[in-house]
Amino acid sequence: MTPWIAPSILAADFSRLGEEVRAVLDAGADTIHFDVMDNHYVPNLSIGPLVLQSLRKADIKDHVDVHLMVKPVDALVEEFLKGRPQIISVHPESTEHLHRTLTLIRDGGAGAGIVFNPSTPLDVLNEVTDLVDLVLIMSVNPGFGGQAFIPSSLDKLRRAREIIDASGRDIRLQVDGGIKTDNIGAAAAAGADTFVAGTAIFGSSDYTATIRKMREEIAAHLD
Ligand code: DX5
Ligand code: ZN
Repeated sequence: MTPWIAPSILAADFSRLGEEVRAVLDAGADTIHFDVMDNHYVPNLSIGPLVLQSLRKADIKDHVDVHLMVKPVDALVEEFLKGRPQIISVHPESTEHLHRTLTLIRDGGAGAGIVFNPSTPLDVLNEVTDLVDLVLIMSVNPGFGGQAFIPSSLDKLRRAREIIDASGRDIRLQVDGGIKTDNIGAAAAAGADTFVAGTAIFGSSDYTATIRKMREEIAAHLD
C-alpha cells in the first residue's frame, strides 16, 4: 500500500487549529490523526467531536482518522460519526463488545480501526480481521505526545503484518508514538504503511521538508 503520513494534531498549536491542519495537508500529509483522550481510559484530556465538526465546517474535507482513547466508547463513536471521519479506531480494552463497536463504526459509514497498546496481545485481531480496515500498533503507552518510541514495537509490527497478510484483506498497518525521521524507516521495514507523527512534524520548522524526509526514509528502507 502507498505509505501514508498522518500528523497527530495533538502536537499542533490549538489556538490556530484550522490553519495548522490546512498547513500539514498542504505540506503533503495523507490523513489527519485526531487523538481523543478522556482522562479516564488515558490520563490526559484532549478534544471532542465538536472540534472535528468545526474543522469540517471550516472546509477541511480531507481524510481524517480518529483515534479514540475513551471508555466507554460507543456513544462517542456515534458523536464522532457526525464529523464524517474516514476511520475511527478503538482500543479493545475500551469496549465490552468489540465486535459490536467495530460494526457500529462501519454501519455509520467509516472504516474501523483496532488499536493495540504495548502490553496488549494481538490475539484478538484474528477474530476481527473481517471487521477492520486499519490496525494501529501503539509504539508508546497512549496518553501523551512526545514520548520515546518503544523498540519492541517493531517486532509487534512484524507480527501484525503477518496476520494482515495471511488474512488477504485490505487493511492498513499504522504505527503511533515517537515516530521521527530517524526511526520511520525501521517501522516501514517492519511492515507499517501508515505513520502517525505529532511532535516530529508540528515541532519542526518546515512541515513540507519533514514530511518529504519521512517519505525518503520510508522508501530507502523498503528498497
Ligand atoms: C498518544 C497518541 C499519539 C501521539 C503521537 O497517545 O495516540 O498519536 O500524539 O505523538 P508523538 O508523535 O509526539 O509521539
Ligand atoms: Zn494517536
